[in-house]
Amino acid sequence: MNMLFDSHAHLDDKRFDKDRKEIIEGLISRGVGRVLNAGADMKSSLAGIELAKEYSHIYAAVGVHPHDVKTMEDCHLNELENMSKEKKVVAIGEIGLDFYYDNSPRDVQRERFIDQIDLADRVGLPIIVHNRDAHKDTLDILRDNRHKLHGGVMHCYSGSAEMLKDFLDIGFYISLGGPVTFKNARKPVEVAKQVPLDKLLIETDCPYLTPHPFRGKRNDPGYVGLVAEKIAKIRDIPLEKIARVTFENASKLFRIRPIQ
Ligand code: NI
Repeated sequence: MNMLFDSHAHLDDKRFDKDRKEIIEGLISRGVGRVLNAGADMKSSLAGIELAKEYSHIYAAVGVHPHDVKTMEDCHLNELENMSKEKKVVAIGEIGLDFYYDNSPRDVQRERFIDQIDLADRVGLPIIVHNRDAHKDTLDILRDNRHKLHGGVMHCYSGSAEMLKDFLDIGFYISLGGPVTFKNARKPVEVAKQVPLDKLLIETDCPYLTPHPFRGKRNDPGYVGLVAEKIAKIRDIPLEKIARVTFENASKLFRIRPIQ
């Protein structure tokens, strides 16, 4: 069996404080060969780097989530730039817009999203984009800044299949997570059918969005296989192929050697 690549996890989350080591060390035996730990704020970005240093199968992204940009200061951009020079930091993220929760004012979200796209351009790294109920603004910003992009992924893509083309046109990868496995899933199932295989990534976004049948429990990267299985079933192709292709895609996007 090919190993799986969980392209988006939050292993620094406090919900892993009691068993982080066991979870991470147990991943290989559960078929997960690589995990990208996404930063959500300054502290978690640093914590992700520490995990990446400690474990060979963990990689890190650094960045400030739209929920938290209200506390961001200009000096943080310099700090993130320094962090991004660490060897196993392979992306800037997660960054973007969240107009569902609106935890930070929208103008601040837009400004800091662009600031962090500029940062990714300076350091030549791809971006991991969070978008909730802000499709149009997200797309407008990505299109306006297209010349600065060094690749990217729409993490836990929640848009329609119709909007897929807009993100594919700017060269983005599309990542699917737990919601594609939910019993009432419609949009992500349609997306799973239509996204070109060479643009597909899989993720857990753990500890959130636990796949069926474990919904409601804490998620962890070991469950990413349930996402891969569901997509294989929807597309009627072997799980082995989904595993191989998504592993190669994530390795390509994050510029990590393709095979373990
Ligand atoms: Ni996330």
